[in-house]
Amino acid sequence: SARRALAGLLGDMRAGVAFTGAGISTECGIPDFRSPGGLWTRNRPIDFEAFLSSREMRDEAWRRRFAMEAAFGGAQPGRGHRALARLIAGGRLAAVVTQNIDGLHQASGVPEEQLVELHGNSTYATCLACGLRHELSWVRARFDALGGRAPDCRACDGPVKTATISFGQAMPVEAMTRARQFTHDCDVFLAIGSSLVVYPAAGFPLEAKRNGARLVIINREATEFDALADLVIHADIGDILDEVQ
Ligand code: OAD
Ligand code: ZN
Repeated sequence: SARRALAGLLGDMRAGVAFTGAGISTECGIPDFRSPGGLWTRNRPIDFEAFLSSREMRDEAWRRRFAMEAAFGGAQPGRGHRALARLIAGGRLAAVVTQNIDGLHQASGVPEEQLVELHGNSTYATCLACGLRHELSWVRARFDALGGRAPDCRACDGPVKTATISFGQAMPVEAMTRARQFTHDCDVFLAIGSSLVVYPAAGFPLEAKRNGARLVIINREATEFDALADLVIHADIGDILDEVQ
């Protein structure tokens, strides 16, 4: 069965990489992007150019961010996050490379040195002009004081944005370098809960396979990379990973 095949692959794993997408956090109450009811089925993404070019778009981006905070700010790691943290602690998984911005891998105990956030982090903000970090609580207080308008940087008046990567924005160089290194060095690459359609992130499963790793895909629905994988499991992530020790 698929579960026994997975147990076999994980049993032999010495330097694995888990590559995660929004599907690992849905059981924590956070919707993914492309499933029915997903974020991009409700709101069109605000791309980087729109964010930069219009104050109204920045207001809207921050309105959405604080609506997310109200709805999911208290989310806790789920069974998938906890299983990956166990594999890290056991020395079998070298790293978690995530597209998620929800901070739940950190919360489950994955150390920073073994975590790569390809699309940044939404739990703080930075000034796009001078790079100064702004805490979410500061942005919230200013946003409220301005009657629901996006605040500007307190040092240089530049635009302040969550520390996430929007469409049209450059990928973080250090995160990409680290992700490539971990992918190059891994023996098993586990793609978990991602539709694998957003590049360059979605290129990593192929890169792993080319470097000789075994490729495992765990996702509720089929992906473009299923045919390439050594093992594909179409099931609920929490159900599957809960058994992994
Ligand atoms: P998607 O929403 O594209 O894909 C999530 C996948 O997880 C879907 O294929 C779901 O079927 C599956 N899924 C959801 N819950 C599951 C569960 N409990 N068990 C098994 N499978 C489940 O999300 P991502 O692939 O993460 O980027 O999206 C990639 C990027 O697109 C995001 O990082 C974000 C977005 O635009 C940026 O904003 C730059
Ligand atoms: Zn600034």
